[in-house]
Amino acid sequence: GNTQMKKIIALALVLVLALSLVACGGNGGNVTTYKVGVAIYQYNDNFMTLYRQEIEAYFKTLETDTVKYNITMVDSKNDMAEQTNQIDTFITQGMDVIILNLVQTSSAEVLIDKVVAADIPLILINREPLGETDESYPGIINNPGVCYVGADARQSGTYQGEIVLALDNKGDINGDGVVKYVMVVGDPENPDAQYRTEFSVKALTDAGLTVKELVKNVGNWDQAKGNEIVDAALAQFGEEIEVVFCNNDGMALGAAAAIEAAGRVVGEDIYLLGVDALTECQEMVKAGTMTGTVLNDHIGQSHAAVDAAVAALKGEALQNYYWVN
Ligand code: BGC
Repeated sequence: GNTQMKKIIALALVLVLALSLVACGGNGGNVTTYKVGVAIYQYNDNFMTLYRQEIEAYFKTLETDTVKYNITMVDSKNDMAEQTNQIDTFITQGMDVIILNLVQTSSAEVLIDKVVAADIPLILINREPLGETDESYPGIINNPGVCYVGADARQSGTYQGEIVLALDNKGDINGDGVVKYVMVVGDPENPDAQYRTEFSVKALTDAGLTVKELVKNVGNWDQAKGNEIVDAALAQFGEEIEVVFCNNDGMALGAAAAIEAAGRVVGEDIYLLGVDALTECQEMVKAGTMTGTVLNDHIGQSHAAVDAAVAALKGEALQNYYWVN
């Protein structure tokens, strides 16, 4: 009795399931599911977290009844060997397109070669491999299936400098004619970091100001490192420091804590600049605990990356570079 009943219920369930499957594939089984592999240099990065979440969200909005995106996103944990394995795995898994945020731009060639050999379109994001001359990396310009999507980092640097120029004292708090600053660098081999470092100061010198760099140190985009660097700089140079430039907001958050701990007051006896315009930092700028931050458009960049991936999936030709500003 009871077992018989259970069997009937089980059978009924199987039938319902079978029918619903037929219903889903009702349009003649015409659903195309693309396999998308995404490798992010490190999940533990404020900006790349916003960026990667938007990649997933935006892919979802592009899905239709007949086109689906099956996204496999992996954390490369800031480890180039790990990322190389992940790309090998993506190739074995037969990804239809790969979006890659390199751990090390100096390893771009090896990974590009692998992906190109497997005939998979490759969208490089956020960390631009540079060639002999800027904006013409051989692996990008010579391979129609490879492109780079990013922002012009020169601009973010220049804007940082312009925020300082807009201050009444133009950053020269003690009025001695020299703007003394600390530079917290993202990552020495990354053009984003190189350009922001160079162009923030260039904006000041182009405007005729005299500057002096007291400390320049690499914080690897990391909040804790930004804190350490500025903490040490303040211990060494104290009141002499007038401006703290950070290549990103993550490090600026660390710097802000160090500044506060040292009893210094942003906007009064020191200035603090970041890049990214994280919500948290926009709030700080409003509250006056940060002097300024420059928008790094993770929405525009992630959408451009996904649009490029979709174009590649449709077999459309890719541009070499997609600039989002
Ligand atoms: C962002 C940083 C981020 C880095 C990762 C930069 O464009 O400004 O916040 O850490 O990209 O590569």
